[in-house]
Order: sequence, then structure tokens, then C-alpha cells
Amino acid sequence: MSRLIQCSFLYLFVATIAIVHASAQLTPDFYDKICPEALPTIRKVVEEAIWQEPRMGASLLRLHFHDCFVNGCDGSNLLDDTPTFKGEKTAGPNLNSLRGFNVVDEIKSAVNSVCYGNVVSCADILAVAARDSVNILGGPSYQVLLGRRDARTASFNDANNDIPSPLSNLQVLLANFQNHGLNLQDLVALSGAHTIGLARCFIYLPRITNDTNINPEFKADLQKGCPNLAAQNNNTHPLDSTTTIFDTVYYKNLLQFKGLLHSDQELYKSDGSETDSLVTYYSNNPNAFWADFGVSMIKMGNILPLTGQNGEIRQNCRKVNN
Ligand code: HEM
Ligand SMILES: *[C@@H]1O[C@H](CO)[C@@H](O)[C@H](O)[C@H]1NC(C)=O
Ligand SMILES: *[C@@H]1O[C@H](CO)[C@@H](O)[C@H](O)[C@H]1NC(C)=O
Repeated sequence: MSRLIQCSFLYLFVATIAIVHASAQLTPDFYDKICPEALPTIRKVVEEAIWQEPRMGASLLRLHFHDCFVNGCDGSNLLDDTPTFKGEKTAGPNLNSLRGFNVVDEIKSAVNSVCYGNVVSCADILAVAARDSVNILGGPSYQVLLGRRDARTASFNDANNDIPSPLSNLQVLLANFQNHGLNLQDLVALSGAHTIGLARCFIYLPRITNDTNINPEFKADLQKGCPNLAAQNNNTHPLDSTTTIFDTVYYKNLLQFKGLLHSDQELYKSDGSETDSLVTYYSNNPNAFWADFGVSMIKMGNILPLTGQNGEIRQNCRKVNN
């Protein structure tokens, strides 16, 4: 009898620890003791990758966004499809569009070698690589929170449903962000990520075909590289006119109705709305943009992380552990 009581006490004790762990918060110093070289190592690989191809900074930033918006920042979008598993890579917003998987692999093997073991999660690698990319391309740095673990699953359907569409209007974009615990200011600040990187012709074709709130010279110029009916045309165009610099030109372009995506220009329609004010404010206050961008990135990075005993530290970011 007393043995039974002891056992259930022990069970309760263990269960309590598990609950405490499950609700554990992300912390900035998570790797300080278990692998002090982790963060400098990630930064070095990201620096080399961006030096080889500046666009890679944009691609790494977007990987973190597409991870966090689909059931939380858990590395789910890094999982390869297999004959028995359909992950997120072929979902509409990701297919032929997400890039940087090889750089993530390089980072993973670099940290696994300096850490003498498999302790850094793929989800944290995405968060750190995104922060470093922004900073290397001239943007802010911010204290990235860590301790995420990796999912053992992914969802093709959720990747199709939860990532915002470039065709959406402001109301739909805002509702999407609110569903992720983010607000209107987060929407405007985080959209500033489009200060770096490229988009494909068939993505912005609807804007240069049908939108009327577009600068005529900008439109004519875009149509040259993206002729009508080229629905599958893979030509790319910068999302703003200084595509490898993390500056406020994205917002300045919106003020001139030179947003590349319909969703970009939705933030500025010169109708005196709250997003108009924020776009105008960020356009000539780089320090405010940088500060708010960092705050919003930390908020985005906090979406439903797996912590404690949940999930796993993947050995290979492309597949779940055996
Ligand atoms: C507000 C809703 C958003 C929509 C509708 C949207 C949509 C898109 C689309 C359609 C592309 C081009 C994809 C292609 O042609 O292959 C793109 C590129 C990009 N997006 Fe967004 N995005 C949004 C928000 C964000 C956020 C919050 C971030 C990061 C914090 C982000 C980062 C990027 C980056 C860096 C690129 C360029 C990637 C590269 O060149 O590889 N976007 N986005
Ligand atoms: C432009 O709008 C028309 C009417 O809604 C639509 O049928 C067409 O597909 C649109 N063009 C593009 C390129 O999206
Ligand atoms: C665009 O790229 C994808 C993936 O590489 C390819 O399947 C498709 O055929 C390309 N489209 C055109 C028009 O080149």
C-alpha cells in the first residue's frame, strides 16, 4: 500500500516536471552552457552563404517565417517528402519558392561538430539564421530567443492554408496575422522583410495586369520582363529597389505605389488608414523600423514552440529521427 502511494507520488512528481518543461519559455542564453560556440558558428556559415549569394539572406529569413506560420516555429518546413510522407515543401506557397535548405544543412553539420553532439534544433537554426541574415544585410540585430525543439510532423494542408497570399487584401492579411497572435503593427513591420529578396513573375503578374494603384512607369517596366499570359514564368524581380540592403526603401516604394505584390501595396493606399501612417513613419525612420522589426520577429519566433520534452532535436533537418 505505502509502496503504491510512493509510486503515485513519484508519478505525480514526474508529471509536474513534465508540465513545467512543456510550458518552458524560450530564453536568449539557452545554448550558453551546452554549446557556447553554436551562435557564432551559425553566423559564420550564414555570412559565407550571403557572401556567395546575397539573396540567400532573404531566403533564410523567409524560411523562418514559413516555419513559424504553420503550426509554430518547429522546423516542420525543412522535412523532405518521402514515399510515405507528404510534408510542407510542395505546398503552394513553398513549391519552387523556398530556398536555402542546403545552407541549413551546412549550419546543422557545423554546429553538430562544434557542439560535440546533437543539441541545436533546426527550428532554432532558422531563428538565428534569420536574425543574422537581417543584420548582415545592414538591418538590426536583436536578441533571438532559443530553446525550440523540432517537430516530428508537418502539414501540407496547413502550409497551404496558414501562409498569407500575395493576392489578399488588407482585411484578410490582418486576419491571418491575428490568427497567429500578431497585430496590425506586426503586419506592417514584418512585411518590411520585403526590403530584401525577389518574387517570380507569375506571382506579381496579377498586380501588373489588374491593379490600378500602381505607378505607370513601374508597371510598364515590369511588364517587359513579365509578359501577359506567362502564367508559369519564373523570371524574378526584386521586392524593392535595393534588394540586398535591409533599409526602408520598401516603404518608400509603397509611398510611390511601387509595391511589387498586391499584398505589399495593400499596406499603403493613401486613404489615411492606420497602415498608411505606419508605412509613412517607417519610410523615413529607419531606427523605428529596425526596432519594431526586431520586436515583431521575436513575437513571430514565439509562435507555438515545442520545448522541454516535446518534439526532438533532429539529427538531420530534412528527416525525423528514427
Ligand atoms: C504579409 C504577408 C506576406 C505575403 C503575402 C508574402 C508573400 C511573398 C511572396 C509571394 C513572395 C515571393 C515568392 C516567390 O515568388 O517565389 C515573398 C518573398 C519573400 N518574403 Fe514574403 N510575404 C509576406 C510576409 C513576409 C514576412 C512576414 C516575411 C519575413 C519576416 C517575408 C519574407 C520574405 C522574403 C525575405 C522574401 C524573398 C525570398 C527570396 O528572395 O528568396 N514575407 N513573400
Ligand atoms: C485580371 O482580372 C480578371 C478579372 O477578374 C481575371 O480574369 C484575370 O485572371 C486577372 N489577370 C491576372 C493576370 O490575374
Ligand atoms: C519554372 O520552374 C519550375 C521549377 O523549376 C519548372 O517546373 C517550370 O517548368 C518552370 N516554368 C517555366 C515556364 O520555365
